[in-house]
Amino acid sequence: DGEKPLKGRKAIVTSGPTHEPIDPVRYIANRSSGRQGHAIAAALAKLGAEVTLVSGPVTIADPVGVNTVHVERAEEMRDAALAALPADIAVMVAAVADWRVASAADQKLKKHPGESIPTLALTENPDILKTVGHHTMRPKLVIGFAAETQDVESNAKAKLERKGADMIVANDVSPATGIMGGSRNSVKLIRRDGVEQWPDLAKEEVAERLAALIAKQLS
Ligand code: C5P
Repeated sequence: DGEKPLKGRKAIVTSGPTHEPIDPVRYIANRSSGRQGHAIAAALAKLGAEVTLVSGPVTIADPVGVNTVHVERAEEMRDAALAALPADIAVMVAAVADWRVASAADQKLKKHPGESIPTLALTENPDILKTVGHHTMRPKLVIGFAAETQDVESNAKAKLERKGADMIVANDVSPATGIMGGSRNSVKLIRRDGVEQWPDLAKEEVAERLAALIAKQLS
């Protein structure tokens, strides 16, 4: 089907940040609007894929034609992503917090004048991309993102191997680029067989190009 080249294909996309609770009212998070991940989910659905979007807390709307699962924490995101297996395609775009508070308080931490300030003990979160990239039900195509502020290409290449991905979409998120939270993106595709720099594009255009590439690769 020319119009719907991904018809009959299943895709999992993660998007947005995760919120790791400190106590009932506070959390640790990464900066992420979800705009790029949501656009990718929408673009894959437009090409006919059956898409499960696992979204952390974002303020943007659920894309139409996509099954969106809302989660808060990294562990919930991992569980929802694994529950969507088997799939043909996984695109992990979420900015997952690398650490969570080891034992989040179940009551709000209170200020007690004169007493010591609390310290947070952190523990490592699951790496969802790495888990999916090495899974027995590994999708045919596993794609990760890499938000870097330096050595974009070499960091992304190392990530490709470590995470068992087929492709890393790398972008420079240094504050001066305005990429983070913005509407445009300038990415490099890193694959085992080479690197491709894409021009500065709207996040929707990056998504459409990526979806087209995925369709081509699976055809
Ligand atoms: O290692 P780093 O966080 O830079 O890797 C980024 C890629 O890994 C992204 O695709 C991101 O969605 C994914 N990731 C993940 N789970 C984590 C950390 C990162 O899926 N805990």
